[in-house]
Amino acid sequence: MITLTDIAYVRSGVADLAAATRFATEIVGLELAASTEPGVAHLRADQRHHCLSLVEGRSGVIASGFTVAGPDELEAAETELERSGITVRRGSAEQARSRRVREFIGFDDPFGNHLELVIDQENVARPVAFSRTAGITEFGHLCLDAPDVYDAHRFWSTRFNAKVSDWIRDKACLLRIDPVHHKLAVFQADTPGLCHMNFQVASIDDVFRNWHFLLDHDVQIEMGPGRHPQSTAIFLYFLGPEGFTYEYSFGVRRIEDDSAWTPRTFDPDEPGSIDMWLGPTKRVSSQRQLIEPAPGPDRAPEPAPAKAQPSQQSQTSPEPVGGRTR
Ligand SMILES: [Fe+2]
Repeated sequence: MITLTDIAYVRSGVADLAAATRFATEIVGLELAASTEPGVAHLRADQRHHCLSLVEGRSGVIASGFTVAGPDELEAAETELERSGITVRRGSAEQARSRRVREFIGFDDPFGNHLELVIDQENVARPVAFSRTAGITEFGHLCLDAPDVYDAHRFWSTRFNAKVSDWIRDKACLLRIDPVHHKLAVFQADTPGLCHMNFQVASIDDVFRNWHFLLDHDVQIEMGPGRHPQSTAIFLYFLGPEGFTYEYSFGVRRIEDDSAWTPRTFDPDEPGSIDMWLGPTKRVSSQRQLIEPAPGPDRAPEPAPAKAQPSQQSQTSPEPVGGRTR
């Protein structure tokens, strides 16, 4: 059993680094860390040096990172994954530096999502210099895609310390690795990818102020504002460049006593099961996982190809999670 102590980061390839960085700062509100590496933008939302890296190259998710406690735990994780037949690669010193971690390993989950386990992710002591006052308090969760959420649950709950908090039937599995209702979710989709990256905000007022800000700036709202009955979070999903979906949310439920919690199943077709406020719901867009013939811990492709590969472009699943579609 591998104990994940937290989520660490998302690393995403972008064909237009300038545009994606501009959106992450001027629209989402993240801080752009001082540039130390050509072709890579590090975005900060909380105490972490960064939680989002935009890497110039092909468009698509490179990796999702999680922390483990220390070098012994990382080595044990490597051994355990290899014993189960998963190919694991150690990141180089240069790759670890780019991620602002001491060491890391990389591997694919059984569904093709590239995952990284890291130790000693760097913190920054000074307050975050947000690019605008969106009210962001922290990197809240990430959501991956898999063809079968029950298989995904088996993977995450047997190999790792992830526990299911709630099911949206066969469409979504919401998983916790600490008291937060979900820091990881898996949504049903035919191809691997990142469904969305979540940032918590400080108040319901921030959610609604951000909604007006996004509308004023012609940003495509994917869903919300609404309220999820599972986590009780008030949500707002919106689409960034290259098919990358961001979410702001406020008020996520905490499960302090595991023994007192029984996971529930919600029917996605039942009104209110996605949004208690009965707003229009849809399956938000996913950014596809970058696939390479020889997977390594750093999926970063060669910088600056002429344009994104069509097969790696973002996708919108036609299949709704449930409820009415816009
Ligand atoms: Fe979410």
